Amino acid sequence: MLVNLTDMCAIAEQNNMAIAQFDTPSLEALRAALDAAEELGYPVMIAHAEGHEPFVPLDVIGPTMVELAERSSAMVCVHLDHCENLSYMRRALEMGFNGAMFDGSYLPYEKNVEMSQYASQMCAEFNAGLECELGSMGSREAGVRPEGGTAEESGAIYTNPEQASDFISSTGLDALACSFGTVHGLYKGEPHLNYDVLTEIRKKNKVPLVMHGGSGVSDEDYAKSINAGIRKINYYTYGVVRAGEAVRGIVDSSAGKPVYWHDMTMAAYDALYTDFKKTMRVFANGAKPIA
Ligand code: 13P
Repeated sequence: MLVNLTDMCAIAEQNNMAIAQFDTPSLEALRAALDAAEELGYPVMIAHAEGHEPFVPLDVIGPTMVELAERSSAMVCVHLDHCENLSYMRRALEMGFNGAMFDGSYLPYEKNVEMSQYASQMCAEFNAGLECELGSMGSREAGVRPEGGTAEESGAIYTNPEQASDFISSTGLDALACSFGTVHGLYKGEPHLNYDVLTEIRKKNKVPLVMHGGSGVSDEDYAKSINAGIRKINYYTYGVVRAGEAVRGIVDSSAGKPVYWHDMTMAAYDALYTDFKKTMRVFANGAKPIA
């Protein structure tokens, strides 16, 4: 069943948990995310990033995401991730997406505010929740593949809590993506998260906060982040790396015999399903199943 971003965040707030957002640019990832949510009874967000258009076009995966979410017994938000073009956002909302992220983090502050305001009006038309980003993760999800590394190497700019208050009230956003030490892609070494950023923002605004670059973080850091106000965690890279490893296992053990594509897709699905279930349990932060 469909639950929009705003209501998802409210559920997360009531239960002091984070909703898992899995980017799903393949049928394997999409099915794995929905099956994991149904099995565990936790709400889930499935997402398509504008930068994943080369993997599978929005026109193909978008209607499939909405249809499967409607049919699912789990609470599901169908979200547009890292969108930089408002025309692309409108297309997703017209398909039935009920959450969207406008990513203006690469823009000067005033322009980020102005564009986020347009996005907010558009989302309101469709009863969808809006996520916006302040500060910068350094690497852009939309457009190029993230390099990973450390926050310093990526040129991250941590979210400024003072500016966050102005940003939240000026844009009317429903969830705020924060830069506080995570990066998109593979980490080089342990990430060092700055929880003060989250605590300071939440002191002034009880706004739901979002962690990007959410795969590859330790369970301890997830718990601390959730307890500091993170209500949604975006998870992609480490899941698809596990799926890739499962496929590599099949190829490596083929010993020159034919390798069947369906064996690869099934192995990828199994690896994602297992990883997503483990991840959702951690993000639940001790909350009981909700569905
Ligand atoms: P990772 O790919 O690093 O897990 O980040 C996902 C993300 O933030 C998508 O918005």
